[in-house]
Amino acid sequence: MKGLTGKTALVTGASSGIGQSIAIRLAQEGCNVAINYRKDSEGAEDTRRQAMEKACQGIEACGVKALLVQGDVSKEEDAIAMVKQTIEQLGQLDILINNAGVQTESPSEAIEADDFDWVLGVNLRGAYLCARETIKHLLAQKRSGSIINISSVHEIIPRPQYLSYSISKGGMGNMTKTMALEYAAKGIRVNGVAPGATITPINESWTEDPEKQAEVESHIPMGRAGTSDEMAAAVAFLASEEAAYITGQTLYIDGGLTLYADFQEPWSA
Ligand code: NAI
Repeated sequence: MKGLTGKTALVTGASSGIGQSIAIRLAQEGCNVAINYRKDSEGAEDTRRQAMEKACQGIEACGVKALLVQGDVSKEEDAIAMVKQTIEQLGQLDILINNAGVQTESPSEAIEADDFDWVLGVNLRGAYLCARETIKHLLAQKRSGSIINISSVHEIIPRPQYLSYSISKGGMGNMTKTMALEYAAKGIRVNGVAPGATITPINESWTEDPEKQAEVESHIPMGRAGTSDEMAAAVAFLASEEAAYITGQTLYIDGGLTLYADFQEPWSA
């Protein structure tokens, strides 16, 4: 995709699932990638191996670099260090993908305060801190850049039993728009990619059981869950020059889940 070769991207939570696919896809497009992970260094190594394989297939003097960056996005000192390490070791930072995310399930009246804080801390505070550090760098260098927030269909669809997750993604949608407006004139684009049900480790409660997966897929107008690679393709597009005039938008990649699936057939004659 146009304009990605030679750029540097930091992908948070890139040791598994959607983040792993994004890091691999961006490397394939010619980006240097900083692969953030919290604990799973093996997963992160796997991302690096696959990224370099895809990036350098058949290319003798392959210039793409992949760096592992450990850190917990919800901790301010880690977010600062992750961005610093990326810039020091890869020379610059042009693209931030705020992908790290967690969820907990509980009736809203019974959520433990610590669990609430954890989900908001990773999904929203973490995304903000990484964006803040990236924007500081871009402004100081007078560079244009792109931030992509991996949100969810629950940015707009309320999700009972997952209140903190719903709030975090709703907040992320507002952060996308607010930052997009604030930095549009500085050449920093901020967009969101909102996956629907996607086959990744966060969903192992249903992806590992064919009956449960069929039940989930029965609610999706296109009749199937999405893949990490489909999310990564949208991210690559939004990060590229092809999307140079797009900012402040959340792109829903959901097989039609946000289209009020119950209206697929008429309710009454
Ligand atoms: P996943 O569980 O494979 O990925 C989440 C990643 O975030 C993991 O690698 C995890 O280690 C990392 N992470 C968690 N806490 C962290 C922290 N404090 N610091 C750094 N990294 C941390 O699941 P998946 O599906 O790939 O999720 C990626 C993003 O996509 C999340 O933001 C999730 O909310 C979003 N999403 C996923 C959907 C799905 O159906 N799989 C649907 C809608 C949104």
